[in-house]
Formats: sequence, C-alpha cells, structure tokens
Amino acid sequence: MQRHGLHSKSLLQLTLALIKPDAVAHPLILQAVHQRILDNNFIILMRKYLKWSQEESRRFYAEHSDKFFYQRVVQFMASGPMRAYILAHEDAITHWRQLMGPTRVFRARYSAPLSIRGELGLTDTRNTTHGSDSPESAAREISFFFPDFQQQRWLSSEEKLYRQGHYYYHPEQQVHLLRDPQPLLVRGH
Ligand code: TYD
Ligand code: MG
Repeated sequence: MQRHGLHSKSLLQLTLALIKPDAVAHPLILQAVHQRILDNNFIILMRKYLKWSQEESRRFYAEHSDKFFYQRVVQFMASGPMRAYILAHEDAITHWRQLMGPTRVFRARYSAPLSIRGELGLTDTRNTTHGSDSPESAAREISFFFPDFQQQRWLSSEEKLYRQGHYYYHPEQQVHLLRDPQPLLVRGH
C-alpha cells in the first residue's frame, strides 16, 4: 500500500455506494444506513437522490443480464428513489463491502448479522445497499452517477487535505466539506 510523506496514512480510495429503494422508502432505515456510513468514518464527498428508468437499471446491471435474477433486480432498482454516495476511506471498496455484508440476505443474517444487509436487508434482491467491487467498477460507477465529479482531479488536489483531516461534516447537506485554509498566523513584530 502506498505511503505518503510524514503522514503514514494510506491514500484515500473512492467507492460508489447506493442506498436502494427498499431502504429509501423507510425514513428510519435510510437514516440508520446513513448513520452507519458516518459511524464507520467514511468521508461523504457527494450524495444525491435519483430514480432510475428501467433502461438505466438494465444498463447498470448489464453484467448480470444472463442471470436468473436480472429482470427482478432491474425492476426493483427502477421501482423507487434511491440515494447515491461517493465515499472516501482507506481501502474504501473493501471496507464498504464488508460493512454491507454478503449479497444474499439470509446468508448475511447468518454469517454477518451486524452488517447492513444482515441487519436491514429484506431479500436477496431488496438488499438495502450497493457497493462497487473493484477500482475499475468504482471509477465507472462514480461517473455513471456523478458525471461532473472529476475523480483524477480530486485525487491530485483534495485527497491529501481530506486524508490529513481538514474536513468537517455539514449536517444539512449531509456531506463532508473541506475546511477553509487556515489563515497564516502573523506573530509579533
Ligand atoms: P451481485 O453483483 O452478485 O451482488 P453485490 O450487490 O453484492 O455486488 O448482484 C447484484 C445485485 O443483484 C444484488 O445486489 C441483488 C441482485 N441479486 C438478486 O436479486 N438475487 C441473487 O441471487 C443475487 C446473487 C443478486
Ligand atoms: Mg456486484
């Protein structure tokens, strides 16, 4: 893992997380998932609500078009609003997938009862959250949901400031924002 300067912390990695329609439909569940994101020290760079057309849903899950559950998942994901996030963390992709738990809810209940899906998932399809599964899919999915977010630019400019902790949580916007640059202290003459 890459190490940086005096700070021995790893570079932040980005991932795309979704709160799926089953969870967005219930304000308390939505709030609980959002709180899990915060409690696990993810940095929320962007978040928004959106609702998919069937076509967008088909496109997003195209890799599963030959699976028995494809129609079901496509329908479900276009059935109501969802919430998308860009999350940053060391090892964000793995970390978020661990927090989500296994895809299949009944497996999740058994093997990872404290995971998001283990606790809140309803069925194998209505399983509360999504997370990118590789750096390539994270890059692809982030541009799918947030076409204006410049990932390379973020990594070369803001990543370091976030990694060093120069951010705060904005409760109304529900994202983490960079602090203003510290004014230089001018000492006595
Ligand atoms: P997959 O990419 O295998 O899981 P993950 O979301 O953990 O990356 O599957 C994508 C989605 O398809 C999954 O979140 C829910 C749906 N799905 C089903 O409805 N039934 C199933 O048996 C599986 C494996 C997935
Ligand atoms: Mg997947």
